[in-house]
Amino acid sequence: MNNDEQLMEKIISLCKTRGFIFQAGELYGGTAGIYDYGPLGSLLKNNIKNLWIKKFVEERRDTYLLDSAIVMGEKPLTASGHVGGFSDPLVSDVKTNKEYRADHLLEEVGINPEGMTIEQMTESLQENNILSPDGNSLGEVREFNLMLKTQLGSSSDSSSTAYLRPETAQGIFVNYKNIMDSMHPKVPFGVAQIGKAYRNEITPRNFIFRLRELEQMEIEYFIHPESWESEFEYWKDEMNEWAEMIGLDMNKLHEVEIGEEDRAHYSERTIDFEFEYPFGQKELYGLAYRGDYDLKKHAEYSKTKLQYTDPQKNETYTPHVIEPSMGLDRTILAILVSAYREDEIDGNMRSYLALTPQVAPYKIAVSPLVKNKEHIVEKANEVFGTLKAEFGNITWDDNGNVGKRYRRQDEIGTPFCVVVDYDTLEEGHVDFGTVSIRHRDTGEQERIAISDLSTYFTNKLS
Ligand code: GAP
Repeated sequence: MNNDEQLMEKIISLCKTRGFIFQAGELYGGTAGIYDYGPLGSLLKNNIKNLWIKKFVEERRDTYLLDSAIVMGEKPLTASGHVGGFSDPLVSDVKTNKEYRADHLLEEVGINPEGMTIEQMTESLQENNILSPDGNSLGEVREFNLMLKTQLGSSSDSSSTAYLRPETAQGIFVNYKNIMDSMHPKVPFGVAQIGKAYRNEITPRNFIFRLRELEQMEIEYFIHPESWESEFEYWKDEMNEWAEMIGLDMNKLHEVEIGEEDRAHYSERTIDFEFEYPFGQKELYGLAYRGDYDLKKHAEYSKTKLQYTDPQKNETYTPHVIEPSMGLDRTILAILVSAYREDEIDGNMRSYLALTPQVAPYKIAVSPLVKNKEHIVEKANEVFGTLKAEFGNITWDDNGNVGKRYRRQDEIGTPFCVVVDYDTLEEGHVDFGTVSIRHRDTGEQERIAISDLSTYFTNKLS
């Protein structure tokens, strides 16, 4: 195993043993491409969502939050092009019938499949004698629709066919008219949504990188067509600012301009934000200029006007759209890769997550130095109660000795450990009325008066 593979193994193992992320259905053998977020993973995820809403909705005047349904009917997804075209090239091993992504098999031998038709992929696989991973011949490449289909109610005619949405974006477009009629926004404005999306990936892989049940954080920003270039640049900067704010390793983040032949059918310009994961540089986020494709399609299929009239200029037009699209699960993976560290402290090896305090599951761990001194435990409990009431996600830890507690908190990324000790309660001692605060990344400690803790942590955690 090389270093990158080892790093990935360590992150996956940490996620399982410390309650961040579990394989879904593990008790029954596991379900591929689906994961459950455990207690710490859920806190981490919620912190990211809250920061995203704060930055892109609460701190702005021009963005509205939406929470649209996950199940979508066939009509809107036909209009958006997903029923007809949201597919990946699939190829089967003729002996085992196991299925593979044809484009991935080509990439693995250094052939770029981008822009190829499925017929060209079949030819290329054959000409280059590419076999399945089991060493058998491959059949013809065919399109495989990635949407998860379901049936509503008891009838099975086509009007009851529905899908789990493949992206949160379409929920925004189909609500354009409702938002215009209820909120009366002026262009430019954005609609932001965080939610689950589903894709029946042929080969889910790389932990939470390629999932079948994923979560997206998307903004559809409606603009006048003439301003698309400057808006695109603006949103590129916003996405970089976001990535830095949540603690991504910016040296590992790269903007990649996507050529015309490789862009989604709706996009007139796309930049992928690629991240250097341990398994290679791959897409983290996308920024796309979708033109007026979606609103025009939904207007055509629903026979409803989806336009905007500028009250000052009296100009009526279909707004164009800039779409910053951010996968939440990939954000979490990129954060974990950016934050995972190993070093030596007091002669012992340790691993820790250098998470920014804003995303860390627990901000502070409070403990009594010893468990068997009632007055120390009582005071620690009092400090814990006060800090918990003010800062919420803080934890109590009195297991084992204090060194072990530090290691445990380091491993899950808790930035501060507060310890109440003998000196805290010894009247006349220079440290009377203070606690020790130990910093995760450096291991350094300082004494802070209990009465100053609120101000101290307000500054550190905001
Ligand atoms: N609305 C545009 C859209 O959905 P996309 O590039 O297909 O575009 C957007 O997906 C983001 O969603 C990606 O940049 C990635 O972060 C995330 N994503 C897409 N497919 C994913 C999958 N199978 N597993 C995890 N995240 C995924």
